[in-house]
Amino acid sequence: MDFDVKNTDLAPGGRHRIEWAEQEMPVLRGIQQQFKDERPFAGLRVSACMHVTTETANLMASLHQGGADVVLCASNPLSTQDDVAAALVSHYEIPVYAIKGEDNETYFKHISAALDHKPHIVMDDGADLVSTIHKSRRNLIDNMLGGTEETTTGIIRLRAMARDGALQFPMMAVNDALTKHMFDNRYGTGQSTMDGIVRATNILLAGRNVVVAGYGWCSRGIAMRARGLGANVIVTEIDPLKALEAVMDGYRVMPMAEAAPVGDIFISATGDIHVLDEHHFMSMKDGALLANSGHFDVEINKPALRKLAVDDPKLVRPFVEQYTMKHNGHRLNLLGQGRLINLAAAEGHPASVMDMSFAGQALAAKYLIDHKGELENRVYTIPAEVDQEIARIKLDAMGIKIDTLTQEQATYLDSWEEGT
Ligand code: ADE
Repeated sequence: MDFDVKNTDLAPGGRHRIEWAEQEMPVLRGIQQQFKDERPFAGLRVSACMHVTTETANLMASLHQGGADVVLCASNPLSTQDDVAAALVSHYEIPVYAIKGEDNETYFKHISAALDHKPHIVMDDGADLVSTIHKSRRNLIDNMLGGTEETTTGIIRLRAMARDGALQFPMMAVNDALTKHMFDNRYGTGQSTMDGIVRATNILLAGRNVVVAGYGWCSRGIAMRARGLGANVIVTEIDPLKALEAVMDGYRVMPMAEAAPVGDIFISATGDIHVLDEHHFMSMKDGALLANSGHFDVEINKPALRKLAVDDPKLVRPFVEQYTMKHNGHRLNLLGQGRLINLAAAEGHPASVMDMSFAGQALAAKYLIDHKGELENRVYTIPAEVDQEIARIKLDAMGIKIDTLTQEQATYLDSWEEGT
């Protein structure tokens, strides 16, 4: 079996951690059992490009049990858990191409290796497989049933492709499921971002000014958890509705140029480029921390930071690079190379929340098979019934019961004649 991982000796530890995560993933476990019984993926090849974590390992194992011939590559050069990659190869017979800290050339070599698998289905987190197929591996298109996409940034890319008439196979927008973005993006990113920052720096958050760039689902979670740890949270936004929501949620809202001299910790999660830029760095305090939780490492302008610094950055702790500014000697600390801090310095979202996201991934992939030949080359959302079902199973696994409508209530809701 062909693969490229750091060290297969790490496999036993990785396997334990994968099994630990599995205990927290009851919805995916149920789907895995169903896949094992029905083998809906028999005869199909799946290439996945995702963060190589214990949770992803459980998703890959579920597809494998369902009969899929699966390969996995990393969706970020710094998010791979090398023990998990080793365990997938050694204990689950799933080829993996991913090494934590790989350079860009290796990253794209690994994407290419995953595509050499000639997939029928791609599973993407950031649309790198889909965009590579469309840009340079178009010979694979005829074979494709479609794909699934995990993240907001990827779906923005896919919708742009669909709008231009460029998309050549159907894509399922897993992120658009309510059981994904309301939970993974908010509670997952909220907790794991603070986890990454704390693991990288060991700082106390209480009393610090934390500037959160953006107020989408991820940033809402980050702001909420930073406040919960005692930080004074400032939100920056470009969307008036989201800005208003942040104000009414009780945060200070201001332009980044005003927040820059005040902030102790800056966290970007906007999906856009250069949210923290040269003129912001110029006015930041000595010791400011810069972290990103958006998909790509473009939110913090790293070349500008280097240009303003006296020298190459000094690695002062793992995942903390310190830049000393030429103009005032202030030290600005870039965490996790400006890559997703929750996956670079911590372990990403906890399994319990990835359970729902990956239940959505597994069911979206099955949807492509069940609707083979019926789908157009566009971006689809997961049916509302699937969302409801994932939530129902999750609640059940948590031992939480809820009410059901009485017949009288159902009739009332259906009627347009009742009321004053
Ligand atoms: N994205 C965020 N957290 C993740 C995790 N634990 N596994 C895979 N993808 C993730």
